[in-house]
This record gives sequence, structure tokens and C-alpha cells, in this order.
Amino acid sequence: MPTQLDNARRGEPAIRFDGVDKRFGDNVVLRGLDFTVAKGDRVTLIGPSGSGKTTILRLVMTLEEATGGYIYIDGEPLTHVERGGQRIALKEKHRNEVRKRIGMVFQQFNLFPNMKVIDNIIEAPTHVLGMSKADAVAKARQLLDKVGLADKEDSHPSQLSGGQQQRVAIARALAMDPEILLLDEVTSALDPEIVNDVLNILRDIADTTDITMLIVTHEMQFARDVSNRVLMFDGGRVVEEAEPDVMFKDPKEQRTRDFLSAVLRD
Ligand SMILES: Nc1ncnc2c1ncn2[C@@H]1O[C@H](COP(=O)(O)OP(=O)(O)OP(=O)(O)O)[C@@H](O)[C@H]1O
Ligand SMILES: [Mg+2]
Repeated sequence: MPTQLDNARRGEPAIRFDGVDKRFGDNVVLRGLDFTVAKGDRVTLIGPSGSGKTTILRLVMTLEEATGGYIYIDGEPLTHVERGGQRIALKEKHRNEVRKRIGMVFQQFNLFPNMKVIDNIIEAPTHVLGMSKADAVAKARQLLDKVGLADKEDSHPSQLSGGQQQRVAIARALAMDPEILLLDEVTSALDPEIVNDVLNILRDIADTTDITMLIVTHEMQFARDVSNRVLMFDGGRVVEEAEPDVMFKDPKEQRTRDFLSAVLRD
């Protein structure tokens, strides 16, 4: 039976930014940022270095907190609500509940260095979701198999190549069965010859699941293959938004054209 909450969530976007501001001291990174990501959407964010792409993902993951505005996940406020014209912070417990539905893979892998591969993967499912160790291990093994690392469960991250560490990080994110997956330049720290292995795993996830994805990448072919929408982002705002074919072939805004010609030249 769908609950009242399920009914309320139906039709709501997976992610909605409503007038989001983010400042670091005097540095205003986002100002009044509005955008939505529909459920099951695969959205790529592009934009110049320092424009705030990582910050957007970190806000969704609650690793940073917005200084103004509201972020909604499935229609539920993430960290703040508006009540009587006031911006009120929600309790830590509420954030943690909402964050359970979100996974993130980082440029620098961010595995727990002192834990074996298998323990990296079962950590959150056992501690955050309360899954039994046996179930978590069984699921972790399936995921390791899926990312081609079935033989590495007892290794430590330092014993793995960058590409292998990133595949573990992907398995770790998937172990939480996220509804939303955030990918921040996940191949930028990898040697060119293994970039495609990691991208192929992500393509497979995109093809075989309905996970909503918000992707920051410089891999334009990957963005084209996987995403159904591209947001060009600069100066704290969305400058242009289009399907990948349109965005990469025939962008409307001069700012987008300049950016793409600089990136594609590299
Ligand atoms: N923890 C922080 N403390 C202070 N300033 C920060 C912090 N994190 C990010 N910034 C600043 O916020 C701005 C946006 O940074 P962000 O990392 O989001 O950019 P980006 O678009 O991801 O860039 P890149 O393409 O280089 O990864 C930058 O000016 C950066 O210096
Ligand atoms: Mg970044």
C-alpha cells in the first residue's frame, strides 16, 4: 500500500533547488539558483572551473549547507523549510533520513583507507540502514562482481589501482540502493586507458536502473551517451539547458559556445 508520503512524493522532482545561495565567506558561489532534476533523469552539469559544480553536488549530499534558499529531495525539504516567512533549519535526524536515498562518487574516490574493500562497501548498509552483516556482505559481493572486482574483497584501497578504487567507490554508493546518484568528475583522476572501464560500468548502471543521476564530467561523449539533459552553469546560475545533442552541436548562448570550444579543444 502506498503511504500518504509516497503519494505526496509522486510527481515531485527528485531534486529541486529553489533560490539557493551559497557563500564561502565573501565568495558568493551560488546566487538564487533554481533548477530541477526529474525522477529518473540523467542530468549533466557543465561549466568552468570554480563555477560551483562540486558545491551543488555537495549541497545535495549535505556535505555543505546552503546559506539561503531551499533544496527539496522528492518534494521533501532537505535541510531548511520556510515557516511563517522564516528559514528554519531542520533537525540532523531529518537530514540523515533524506540523505539515505542519495549516493555520491567523488573524483578522489574517498574510500576508507584503513578498511578492506568489503568493509568499505558494507559500512553504510549495516550502520545506516541496519542491514544484517550477512545480507550486506552478500550484496557487496554481487556489486563487486558487477564492477569486475570479485577477487579484491580482502584488499585494502592502497593495494588497488585508481581505476579499481573508483570501481569500489561505485559499488559502495550502489550498496545503499540510492534513488539519486551524484557523480563528480569520477574519471578525472584516472589514467586515460582505464577511463573507459569506469565509464562503461556507469553506462551499464544507467541502462539497467532507473536511478536519477546528476553528473559533473568533462567526458562529453559520456555525457552524450548517458544524459538526457545538460545544464550549462556559470556565475552561480544555469546559463542554458538543453538535450545533449542540441547543447553540444548547437548551443544558443555565446557563453556556452565559448566554454565548449575551450573544453573540446583540450
Ligand atoms: N570548502 C570551501 N571553502 C571555501 N571556498 C570553497 C570551498 N569549496 C569550494 N569553494 C569555492 O567555491 C567555488 C566553487 O568551487 P567548486 O569546487 O564548486 O567549483 P567547480 O565548478 O566544481 O570547479 P572544478 O571544475 O574546478 O571542479 C570556488 O571559488 C571555490 O574556491
Ligand atoms: Mg569540481
